[in-house]
This record gives sequence, C-alpha cells and structure tokens, in this order.
Amino acid sequence: MIEIAASILTADFAAIGEAVKRLEDVGADMLHIDVMDGCFVPPITFGAQLVEAIKKRTRLRLDVHLLIVNPEKHVDDFINAGADILTVHAEASADLKMLLRRIRGAGIRAAASVNPPTPVDALIGALGEMDMALVMSVNPGWGGQRYLPEATKKIKTLRSEAVRLGIPLDIEVDGGINVETIKIAAGAGANIIVVGSALFNAPDMRSAVRRLKEAAN
Ligand code: DX5
Ligand code: ZN
Repeated sequence: MIEIAASILTADFAAIGEAVKRLEDVGADMLHIDVMDGCFVPPITFGAQLVEAIKKRTRLRLDVHLLIVNPEKHVDDFINAGADILTVHAEASADLKMLLRRIRGAGIRAAASVNPPTPVDALIGALGEMDMALVMSVNPGWGGQRYLPEATKKIKTLRSEAVRLGIPLDIEVDGGINVETIKIAAGAGANIIVVGSALFNAPDMRSAVRRLKEAAN
C-alpha cells in the first residue's frame, strides 16, 4: 500500500499550522519536513523548534529530511523534537552506519538518502542499518522541479537488493511527483511518496491526494 508523505516546503511559511491541519484533513499519511541549512543545499528552511511545534498540532507521523552538513551534531535535537522518521544524507555523513544505529537506538525509524549524482551503492552497504532509503528524484533545494528519470533505476536496484537480503525496507522517492511520475516510481518499488507542489498547486487538494493514490496502486 502506497503512503503519501506531504511536503510542506511549498506551503505558505507564514501559515504552516493551517497547512498541516489541511494536509491531515485531506488524507495525507505523513508530513515530510525538509530541514535545509544553507550549506548542504542553498536555502535555509526549518529547525528542530518547528518540528516540535508541529508535533503538538498533528496526529500525522513526522518524516524529517535532514538536508544539512554534519548531521551527527544535530540528530539528537530532531529526535527530541519528535521526528518519527529521520533521514540523513550519505554525502554528508562521516560514518553513515554508526549514525543510522544511533537514530535507531533512540527508538525512531532511521533512513539514508542520496542525491541524483550519487551512486546508489552509497546506500547498499548500509541497508542493514536502515528502515527506509530515500531516493532523491530532483536535485535538492526546491519544490516544483521535474522528476529525474535516473531515480527509477536506483529505486529498482534498492528494492531488488532488499528482497535479496530479506530486509523489509521502505523506499521513499522525493521530488517531481505527480499523477504520471507516481506510477513510474511506485512501479519501480517505492512505497512512500513525497509530494509537495502537486498538492499545494492543486485546485482541490483532497481529490489530488485521491488521484495520486489511485494512480500509484
Ligand atoms: C526538495 C525536497 C522535496 C520537495 C518536493 O529538495 O527534498 O521534499 O519538497 O517537492 P515537489 O513535490 O514539489 O517536487
Ligand atoms: Zn525532502
């Protein structure tokens, strides 16, 4: 069963609370929160304080995507803020396996991600330490970009490797998802789908969620 992780990156930042309530009402399965530090990616977005504030206002799980350098220094803040899933980038982690063990050790789901230029091998070696692998299907930093087809092969490789190893791995795809590209990503083996602009730019967000799920299943 496909789950929709609704990204708040294209929401009105001055009305995040309303956006969170709306996403819950229209049937999103979890909230995707892009934490950007202005170093790993050019924009600066949210910190642990916003994650903590959102946690108090929603029943949705918080899928926190750390697009930051030195994640080792910051994971505890996001764990304490109430993240349910915490994703770090392989490109930014000094010791990815150790960091994933630390996140899991805190009792929450651990995930690792790679950007489009990074080979999927960077995740394969650490599959045993993660609950989810996140495949970036856009170059990170902004919502509203086009899905990069090279992500599809990475999803297929991860899914077949997880099956071969008998690992119940969630595979999340992030960037450029709409009713067309969700079919491609879900068909390749992704089961958690990040959607941002395709929800916030939709005339009717509830039917957008329904149509995306119908297209994926
Ligand atoms: C981009 C972020 C994505 C983004 C997706 O760096 O990681 O989560 O919000 O937005 P859309 O669905 O608009 O591509
Ligand atoms: Zn993201």
